[in-house]
Amino acid sequence: MKAHLVHAHSEGDSFVTAMKTVIASQLEADGHEVTISDLYAKRFNPVASPADFGSRRDDERLVYALEQRHGYESGTLAPDILEEIEPVLAADLLVFTFPIYWFGAPAILKGWFDRVMLSGVCYGGKRLYGRGGLAGKRSFAAMSLGGRENMFGAQGVHGELVTGMMRHFFQGTLGYVGTSVLEPFVGYNVPYIGEPARAALLDDLRGVVAQIDRRPVLAVPDLNAFDDRLAPLASVEA
Ligand SMILES: Cc1cc2nc3c(=O)[nH]c(=O)nc-3n(C[C@H](O)[C@H](O)[C@H](O)COP(=O)(O)O)c2cc1C
Repeated sequence: MKAHLVHAHSEGDSFVTAMKTVIASQLEADGHEVTISDLYAKRFNPVASPADFGSRRDDERLVYALEQRHGYESGTLAPDILEEIEPVLAADLLVFTFPIYWFGAPAILKGWFDRVMLSGVCYGGKRLYGRGGLAGKRSFAAMSLGGRENMFGAQGVHGELVTGMMRHFFQGTLGYVGTSVLEPFVGYNVPYIGEPARAALLDDLRGVVAQIDRRPVLAVPDLNAFDDRLAPLASVEA
């Protein structure tokens, strides 16, 4: 399979960059083709703006998503967006490596989604979740954070991590565009643990990647429970 890694950390000796290296090397060892988009290294511009469009369908009023559609169809999107979307469309597996910043992805990665997950291509109209533009692909995130594992979960001070704090990312982005979202790998408490604990986490991650085909898939809303306006179907009275 083809795997495309989108990496969001500036430091070569960081834990997140070590996760990226482990994932890429394990996938390659297992015979997969790996491409990497290292967002800091390429100084990716994360700010969605009118400069993203070479020719506009409407020169007066910018509706970003509609211009994305027009720009992709007419081949007039900014070259850095086209460079990012091509490996995404070619991939069977999308991988994201990043630290959690303020209950979310760091700005450089958030902006990558804003600019690269194109309306009309990755989603649009009723093309979402199981019918999203990237249906048939899988996605997997490996992320680190400062918080301890005991801070998460139904009773945890921050609530659930994947379905609560990061729901916008796993459901609202990766699930929304149609990918089958694999259960993420989480490195807790990373700034405060020593080298042996880091090495153990990276070993765990290597094992997860080696068994990626067995990784559970997160649930997304089932569109069969909604009508063609995406209103909930009336529940059948017993
Ligand atoms: C701007 C910023 C925001 C952060 N927000 C969070 C957060 O919301 N929750 C959390 O647990 N850790 C947070 N952290 C801690 C980072 O997630 C942590 O330092 C990082 O994952 C460590 O990995 P690294 O050594 O590879 O950078 C934040 C750090 C920074 C710099």
